[in-house]
Amino acid sequence: MNASTFSARVTASTLTDPYAIVASAVGTLGGPLHGGANEEVVDMLAKIGSVQNVPAFVEERLARKAKFMGFGHRVYKVKDPRATILQKLVEDLVERYGSDPYYDIACELEKVLADKLGHRGIYPNVDFYSGLIYRRMGIPTDLFTPIFAIARVAGWLAHWKEQLEANRIYRPTQVYVGSHHQPFVDIEKRRG
Ligand SMILES: CC(C)(COP(=O)(O)OP(=O)(O)OC[C@H]1O[C@@H](n2cnc3c(N)ncnc32)[C@H](O)[C@@H]1OP(=O)(O)O)[C@@H](O)C(=O)NCCC(=O)NCCS
Repeated sequence: MNASTFSARVTASTLTDPYAIVASAVGTLGGPLHGGANEEVVDMLAKIGSVQNVPAFVEERLARKAKFMGFGHRVYKVKDPRATILQKLVEDLVERYGSDPYYDIACELEKVLADKLGHRGIYPNVDFYSGLIYRRMGIPTDLFTPIFAIARVAGWLAHWKEQLEANRIYRPTQVYVGSHHQPFVDIEKRRG
């Protein structure tokens, strides 16, 4: 289950109202590792700037062990099937309205990263091409994730209903592995 849907179900399990459930899911979706990645993808493509800059950008990021936004997925270890569908839509837009330099950079990045990260099962995910479609439609970058969220509200609420059919509050077990019997240190004497 994805992180935002899980958040929705945890919140629903307390029997709170559906507004709070959606708010909780939206908060989780907004993070750059989840739905917020589509905004970061467009920023990354802008930063790369041109197809020629792709190899150097990749090398620099790999050397720092930094992540490439719009790549990788906890479950899909191949190209996310939604990315394939969205890429076709970008191509339709390019055919209809002319070339898009960001799309050219994205294709080159996908090609270079297939070589570098493909063996680790890191391929484009749903967020890699969705931003390019929104951008081509004239939607401002900071609305990408909200639009993605709107589409998910129906699903979150379906989970709410399902949760309530056999509800029990989520109460995961947490095992404390830290130290015991720590001496009290006066606040002024604490480091950091
Ligand atoms: C989606 C995501 C959170 C899945 O995470 P995960 O399966 O739990 O994998 P982890 O974040 O633990 O990463 C495992 C390894 O793969 C690497 N990796 C994962 N995604 C990567 C990416 N996008 N670029 C480069 N390396 C990546 C990590 O650096 C890590 O390497 P290490 O073992 O050497 O430390 C992760 O792929 C990611 O952060 N992607 C970028 C954000 C993104 O596009 N999110 C939208 C998801 S639909």
